[in-house]
Amino acid sequence: MKRIKKVTCLLLGLSVLASSGCGGGRGDGKLTPQEMTDALFAAISANREAYTREVVDRLQYQERIMEAKEHFREEKVLPLPAQMLRMSAETISQSKDALFSYALLSQWPINKQNGPRTESEKVGLRRVAETGKSHYTEETLGGKKYFSAYYPDKGVVEACVKCHNDHPDSLRKDFRVGDVIGGIVIRVRIDE
Ligand code: HEC
Repeated sequence: MKRIKKVTCLLLGLSVLASSGCGGGRGDGKLTPQEMTDALFAAISANREAYTREVVDRLQYQERIMEAKEHFREEKVLPLPAQMLRMSAETISQSKDALFSYALLSQWPINKQNGPRTESEKVGLRRVAETGKSHYTEETLGGKKYFSAYYPDKGVVEACVKCHNDHPDSLRKDFRVGDVIGGIVIRVRIDE
């Protein structure tokens, strides 16, 4: 299994990595690509969950102060959790030193930008939707080799399912609570 250098952990500066193998404990000071994507996924999904719970849920449903809506700038409200994720992912992808990239995608996207583009994405999204489990693969994009990890994104609460089923641009209208709506793909460069 190919290994990613320890420097990766230092550059990332994510505290979650410290507890998952970075900076000692394993002895060899190296992470496998899967350990790295799993750790990144833990951080990305924890952020998503915190924003959903402490900002959207609290302000929209408990305090009834402000809603989260797709056209948040025009309506001067909160961005949707999926949009927050995309804005962060875009910031990372704009950095030329980025060691990884990620995106929230779906076979049934509301926003066409979130549909699968590569063969790996088509297969990965289908696999996570069918099994409800993560899926790992390798692919070559633009002449560079990547380890690509797919993690299911489930409609854990009624609000997810309802909004996706009711949205005019949604390609699927029969989601039920617990169904996989899409997946988070995380890619890291691997050296030959
Ligand atoms: C109020 C409506 C609303 C709610 C609630 C909502 N979504 Fe979405 N979701 C959207 C919209 C709109 C997009 C497209 C955003 C974009 O990228 O511009 C989206 C994007 C997504 C995507 C990327 C694929 C796509 O459809 O574009 C996934 C996966 C997703 N949401 C899953 C979920 C999950 C899981 C939940 C609940 C935890 C959830 N959504 C809650 C409206 C909603």
